[in-house]
Amino acid sequence: MAETVQNQFGGIDVLINNAGIMTLVDTGNEYNDLNKQMQEIEINYNSPIRVLHYFLPLLKKSKNAVLVNVSSGLAYVPFAQAPVYSGTKSALHFWTLGIRPQLKPHGIKVIELLPPVVDTPLAHGADIAEDDNLKPMPPERLADIFWKEFIRGKE
Ligand SMILES: NC(=O)c1ccc[n+]([C@@H]2O[C@H](COP(=O)([O-])OP(=O)(O)OC[C@H]3O[C@@H](n4cnc5c(N)ncnc54)[C@H](OP(=O)(O)O)[C@@H]3O)[C@@H](O)[C@H]2O)c1
Repeated sequence: MAETVQNQFGGIDVLINNAGIMTLVDTGNEYNDLNKQMQEIEINYNSPIRVLHYFLPLLKKSKNAVLVNVSSGLAYVPFAQAPVYSGTKSALHFWTLGIRPQLKPHGIKVIELLPPVVDTPLAHGADIAEDDNLKPMPPERLADIFWKEFIRGKE
């Protein structure tokens, strides 16, 4: 993919690690789907590391390189219905904090977006989008807040 981006677009300035899944799992049930949980770790945590690894040479060439990692408020507050998800987001959060100073000397700015409950299929799967107390945020609003803070230079 990195080669294709280089060949077709001549480089990259902004890399957003957004893809993610959330699996509801009962860890107390030994018949739960282990492969699904391993896949969740692969997509939510291992993949951002892999994607950065392959796109690093392209980001280094950009004069305005930005890496955005989409973690979650659940990196701080464990969600008992989705313990693996919370763990992956927590790992992504701390990886983000760790790589920020390492990439700074290379001119790559590292930004973390920690969304609250957002009105997307991911949240609907957990029934939390229907919880009045959690009031899911429209994705457009999250995007607006993100860009406002991005322009202000907030990491
Ligand atoms: N919704 C929330 O309440 C909430 C809160 C905090 C954080 N987040 C985070 O926000 C990010 C976006 O989630 P969302 O809410 O927009 O959920 P979503 O509507 O379910 O979208 C998930 C996205 O991830 C992509 N994806 C999933 N598995 C993939 C794979 N193996 N390879 C490539 N792409 C894959 C999907 O691509 P396809 O459409 O092609 O399947 C889709 O674009 C995730 O990292 C999520 O953890 C969401």
